[in-house]
Amino acid sequence: MAIAMTTGYSAQTEGALLCIEAASDWALTCVDSLAAQNSHVLIDYGAADGGTAVGLWNQILDRLHANQPEAHLTLIGNDLPSNDNVALAENLALQIPRSPKPTVLVSARSFYEPSVAPDTVSFGFSATAMHWLSASPGPLNTHTHVLASGDSEALERFTAQALKDWNYVLELRSRELKVGGRLLTVNLSRDEQGRYLGHNGGETRNVHDQLHQIWRGMADEGLISEEQYRNGTVNNFYKSPTEFMAPLKDQSSPAYRNGLRLVDERTAYVKCPYRRRWNEDGDTATFAAGLMATIRSWSRHSFASAAGDQAADTVYQRLQERIAAAPSEWSLDYVEHHQMMERVG
Ligand SMILES: C[S@@+](CC[C@H](N)C(=O)[O-])C[C@H]1O[C@@H](n2cnc3c(N)ncnc32)[C@H](O)[C@@H]1O
Repeated sequence: MAIAMTTGYSAQTEGALLCIEAASDWALTCVDSLAAQNSHVLIDYGAADGGTAVGLWNQILDRLHANQPEAHLTLIGNDLPSNDNVALAENLALQIPRSPKPTVLVSARSFYEPSVAPDTVSFGFSATAMHWLSASPGPLNTHTHVLASGDSEALERFTAQALKDWNYVLELRSRELKVGGRLLTVNLSRDEQGRYLGHNGGETRNVHDQLHQIWRGMADEGLISEEQYRNGTVNNFYKSPTEFMAPLKDQSSPAYRNGLRLVDERTAYVKCPYRRRWNEDGDTATFAAGLMATIRSWSRHSFASAAGDQAADTVYQRLQERIAAAPSEWSLDYVEHHQMMERVG
């Protein structure tokens, strides 16, 4: 299923940049572990416009070049064909001037497909992307996000699709990795207290409930039909650490059989940068516009594809008004699962 971020992705997503920075120590650990080779292929799955990861890839390329000065390095940025892949190519090209003058390439394919030949990748990385499902597990009847819906039947459907997708993604990546290669995934997740992106346990409002209230209100006013209301489903899922690790604990999974092993895992929390700035400067108009834009960057497609651009615009106008009316009750806090893996054979 094609999803698309709105344009200017990295300018609207300061939180995603902080999530990448929070994983940079493990990214460097991964490249430090690589055995000496003539060349290394590095790949960023679900990179969007690549802007949020420029600093990370600077660090990784410098470190790998320092460790292995003779090795040729290739950096591939991956995202869907519907992504702004010209912007991605331009951001990747920022790396070309630095030694050892890496080759940079764009892979405009789904990460639910093979990206490169088997036994090719030394280091694979993905941030805040693999929560998007490959197919719709069906509509939600009473909400726009399954984890906020309280609908146990829908939760089963979404969990089954998410685990199937995750097993498949890891199977594909395990084939692409070289033996000794590492994969680091930095994914939106659900912690043991049930917190996830936009739900911080009640400190502030559940962002998914707010989006749903706006969407339901539009159906009640007749601005969208009941069918459009039901189709306005955010087709993603925030897995728990246990769910993330499952294919690596199950010795019969395709990824495990291909030699993919868990090296380490942890949960990282990143507080909303827009809210932090509002705490300091009290500028409510800027906070409401910035927070709305970052929420819109990942959710707009779900509403626009269900009911068109005008309906989606109404959602975000109302969202911004809600934030401006009660700024202290808003924050978009991230819960991310870091999983470091290695292909051992
Ligand atoms: C929130 S952005 C994250 C971008 C960047 N990795 C970051 O952390 O800032 C999620 C990206 O995943 C991409 N994406 C979603 N499903 C995908 C798929 N099946 N294959 C490749 N990319 C996908 C989206 O197009 C989007 O650009």
